[in-house]
Formats: sequence, C-alpha cells, structure tokens
Amino acid sequence: MESRQQTSGDDIAPLTVAVADGSIIEIRPLTRGDRAGLTELFSRLSAESRQRRFFTPKVELSERELAYFTDVDHVSHEALAAIDPWDGSIVGVARYVKYGDHPAVADVAIEVADDRQRCGIGTALDERLVGRARVNRMACLSATTRWDNRPARALLRRFGFRARASRGGELQLDLDVSASEKVSTGAAHTLAERHSRSACET
Ligand SMILES: CC(C)(COP(=O)(O)OP(=O)(O)OC[C@H]1O[C@@H](n2cnc3c(N)ncnc32)[C@H](O)[C@@H]1OP(=O)(O)O)[C@@H](O)C(=O)NCCC(=O)NCCS
Repeated sequence: MESRQQTSGDDIAPLTVAVADGSIIEIRPLTRGDRAGLTELFSRLSAESRQRRFFTPKVELSERELAYFTDVDHVSHEALAAIDPWDGSIVGVARYVKYGDHPAVADVAIEVADDRQRCGIGTALDERLVGRARVNRMACLSATTRWDNRPARALLRRFGFRARASRGGELQLDLDVSASEKVSTGAAHTLAERHSRSACET
C-alpha cells in the first residue's frame, strides 16, 4: 500500500559531502529542470560506462528518456544528483524505480562521470539513496550489473547488497532495506550477513 504522496523534492534537504579528491559535492533531488545537466553528465560517461549503466552501446539520451529520468515523484521513483558546486555540473546520479508488480521493491541504477570516479561519489550517492528508500518504505532494492563490472559490484557489496541470481554475464543483487536500517556504509556488510532471510525473498 502506498502511504506517501509524491513530492516535488523541495522537502528533501540537500547534503554536502567531502570526497576523496579533496573537493566537496552537494547531493540533492533531481528535478525537471535538470535535463541539460543530465545530458551533459551523459556526455562525460565513457562508452564503457554507458554500456555498464544502460546495458547497450548508447550514444545519446532521447527527449523521451530525459523526460522519464527527470520527471520523478521522489517516492516510487527517486533520483538524486551529485552536484559540483564549482560549476554547478551534475557529476553523478543515483536512482531507484519501483517495480510495477512489486509494491515495495525498486530497481537501482547509478552513474558517475568518468573523470570523477573512484573518489567516493558513488558511495555518497548510494548512501543517500538507501536512506531515501528507507524513508519511502521500500522493502528491497535490486540492482543488475555485469559480472565484470568490478566498481559496481564493490559499491553494492559495500552497502550489503547480496547476489540473488545470475544469468549470462549479468548478476542481480538485492538489499533488504529494513535489515540495513540505520546502518552506516562501514557496518552494512556485517549486518546484512546476519539476516539469512531477507524481505527480498519473495
Ligand atoms: C559504479 C560507479 C557508479 C562507482 O562510482 P564511484 O564514484 O567510482 O564509486 P566510489 O568511488 O564510491 O567507489 C565505490 C567502490 O568501487 C570501487 N571502485 C571504484 N572504481 C573502481 C575500479 N575502476 N576498479 C575496481 N574498483 C573500483 C571502490 O574501490 C569502492 O570499493 P570499496 O567500497 O570496496 O572501497 C561508477 O564506476 C560508474 O558510474 N560506472 C559506470 C556505470 C555503472 O557501472 N553503473 C552501475 C550499474 S547500474
């Protein structure tokens, strides 16, 4: 049962985070006004990152995709942007989208501009996204990645996502959101392991 209404995102406080390259980023909700910023972020993804994120050799985001990716209700579809305050550019986005046929299960996707990867931006985005999933009472977050995508697997593992299924070169990982409640990134692994059965097991 959906217990919350959609929101414009104005009620979601931005968060300032220090990252490993010595800079700071701001994490805030993505809005309809971010189409140009999202297009620019896409241009900062290498062919490999695009393939890893979209599972296809994508060359551009269509108008329809841009509308879908930015028109989010911040409840069943949440999207958070990491902003470089220096120039206002979007350097990363993390989102979840609730499955139509599962009331509290959502699919996760994340991308960080190649020139800003390996600084902790993906970790900061994911931490905030899991927090939003908890606020919005998602039971389970699910992510799909390729086996050879080591950065994504490392990132998801850090939050306690566990492998659930594998098909071809792809791996599905799930996080029981309630089991990881109030857990910081460092402890997520241990606590998730303690729960042998998870809300993701349907
Ligand atoms: C996956 C991705 C979002 C990670 O973002 P990031 O900002 O580089 O991540 P962080 O700097 O927070 O690092 C997170 C973890 O990934 C590891 N990692 C990052 N880049 C890595 C690399 N090139 N090789 C191996 N591990 C890597 C980090 O060491 C860290 O692991 P740890 O927690 O064990 O220390 C980024 O690589 C990306 O955008 N990839 C392309 C899109 C994609 O694959 N999306 C995921 C599928 S939807």
